[in-house]
Amino acid sequence: MKIGILNGGGDCAGLNAVTRAVVRKSEQLGYEVVGIRHGWAGLLKPDTTTLRWEDVSHMISVGGTMLHTTRTNPFSHANGPETVLANVKKLGLDAVIAVGGEDTLSVAARLADRGLKVVGVPKTIDNDIVGTDVTFGFDSAVNVTVEAIDRIQTTGESHDRIMVVEVMGRHAGWIAAYSGIASGANLVLVPEEPVDLDKVSTFLRNRHQSGATASVVVVGEGCSITGSPPGDATKLDEFGHPRLGGIGDLLAREIERRVGIETRAVVLGHVVRGGPPSAGDRLLATRLGVAAVEAVKNGEYGVMVCLQKNTLSKVPLVDILGKMKNLDKETLAELKDFQI
Ligand code: F6P
Repeated sequence: MKIGILNGGGDCAGLNAVTRAVVRKSEQLGYEVVGIRHGWAGLLKPDTTTLRWEDVSHMISVGGTMLHTTRTNPFSHANGPETVLANVKKLGLDAVIAVGGEDTLSVAARLADRGLKVVGVPKTIDNDIVGTDVTFGFDSAVNVTVEAIDRIQTTGESHDRIMVVEVMGRHAGWIAAYSGIASGANLVLVPEEPVDLDKVSTFLRNRHQSGATASVVVVGEGCSITGSPPGDATKLDEFGHPRLGGIGDLLAREIERRVGIETRAVVLGHVVRGGPPSAGDRLLATRLGVAAVEAVKNGEYGVMVCLQKNTLSKVPLVDILGKMKNLDKETLAELKDFQI
């Protein structure tokens, strides 16, 4: 049995831990593992490397991905799907493990429909994949964000400023919400809810008039004050997503103008995506890697391994096609309780 493994989409902490677990479990079963480099691009134009235990044994704590990643979508290339399937055959791969977010897993679902023997593994710092309780990468990102906000808070207090902290999360506000609650931020704005600038400035004005000297506002990059999130709409990836960024600056300028208190913006962005995985993410990534190889062993293809009620499980890849797990009503309601 020869298994290929690839990582697609934005990187996150824990990707190398999955690769390590896949190699370990495969070697125990007498299988061979081939690393496919640069995501689906590595199957459009074969770019692979053999993976053995000595290549990965030390990788559980290393951030990023040793396989490299891209946002390549074979379905946006002429004859892309056919080329991928032909190259899988040429490389002698019996199965492919695709580790990615909704875009990468959607490609996996569509290729499964065309006969690819594929198992999906969910990953993303955004935590927005349906069918799984949580994605690895998210916990690490939240931990780094909270540490950063703790630091931003003290400098904000020293200077009597309002500090706006922009965090990633293209469509979903999980990072903003969890790090906002965990850091005791004063206001959290998420893409799931429209930003009401009047409410934001009234809240901050009242807070400062009642004695507060500093405030922290966390804002998800997918939030908008003009109708669509700021970014560079000319820079679309192969899945049609624009490059986002800039809401922190816009919001800080608007708050300063309306509230009359010096306001600074900090963009955390990629800082929270890089670096070593948290202990929780190392465990989750390892469990999912082992589960993916077990699915291959059992001939269960066209599925995504996942965590449901802290138990390893599987869902059909087609069930996640085109879906997104947004922040739920309960967490949003909890957030409001903590906005003080
Ligand atoms: O992987 C998800 C994500 O981190 C989003 O939160 C963010 O919008 C996007 O990736 C940024 O990707 P890139 O690094 O390719 O600009």
